[in-house]
Amino acid sequence: MKSTKDFLKMKNEGKKIVMITAYDYPSAKQVEQAEADMILVGDSLGNVVLGYDSTIYVTMEDMIHHAKAVKRGACNTFIVVDMPFMSYHLSIRDTLLNGARLLQETGAHAVKLEGADGVLSHIEALVNAGIPVVSHLGLTPQSVGVLGGYKVQGKDAEAARKIVEDAKRCQEAGAFAVLLECIPKQLAKEITSLLSIPTIGIGAGVHTDAQVLVYHDILTYGVERVSKFVKPYANMNEQMTNGLRAYVNEVRNKLFPTDQHSFTMKEEELKTLYG
Ligand code: KIV
Ligand code: NA
Repeated sequence: MKSTKDFLKMKNEGKKIVMITAYDYPSAKQVEQAEADMILVGDSLGNVVLGYDSTIYVTMEDMIHHAKAVKRGACNTFIVVDMPFMSYHLSIRDTLLNGARLLQETGAHAVKLEGADGVLSHIEALVNAGIPVVSHLGLTPQSVGVLGGYKVQGKDAEAARKIVEDAKRCQEAGAFAVLLECIPKQLAKEITSLLSIPTIGIGAGVHTDAQVLVYHDILTYGVERVSKFVKPYANMNEQMTNGLRAYVNEVRNKLFPTDQHSFTMKEEELKTLYG
């Protein structure tokens, strides 16, 4: 299993780091079998698994429940767990207790939290307490209400400068990686060269040290519409619905189960039974 030190080494050697989200036992097993370097138990859980229209409804209990299943499916992969909405804002004490729960109760290795303003001292406290932190900047879905929608961030010089400064501040606070979501590729390139820690991109172009995508988006599984930054590598919606529909039709037409799928008892036992 790779460690935070290995990720830093990969950045320095120009080797791409690959991260995929996972939310349960089978997805984690597949992501590990696909040899991704890191798993993210994202709070995108709320959208792609639980059916909410926002990540703000996801709770600590949700994250812990799912991260435990992920750990059982991928015990040899580095696992990052998202700190849910409002679990790292109230105080350093709350942040530490929640960060500790996410590692201790699930066996995950690091936490991720969104933003820089108001949480830098919390990042520092987590790292000082021994909890590795990934920062998440650019489009931060937990603040979608404040941002005014799921839009590309840092498009003008002023907004771009703010993201650069935030990335530096997160690195100084002790984050071991900075995730950049939905920002122009030039800005992601600049931040990647300015930081000594790895950048993880999603919708941030090819120059980040790592790439991450949501499991359901890669596989077109359960999701209807995907963003411009997603490339679908399979169509599970189609394959799975076809499989389920075939079963429904075979049962209705008495084509399933056949003898091949049935159990039998001996004739003599039947005679004894019915006399
Ligand atoms: O929750 C999530 O899956 C994420 C990624 C989209 C970066 O935070
Ligand atoms: Na997230």
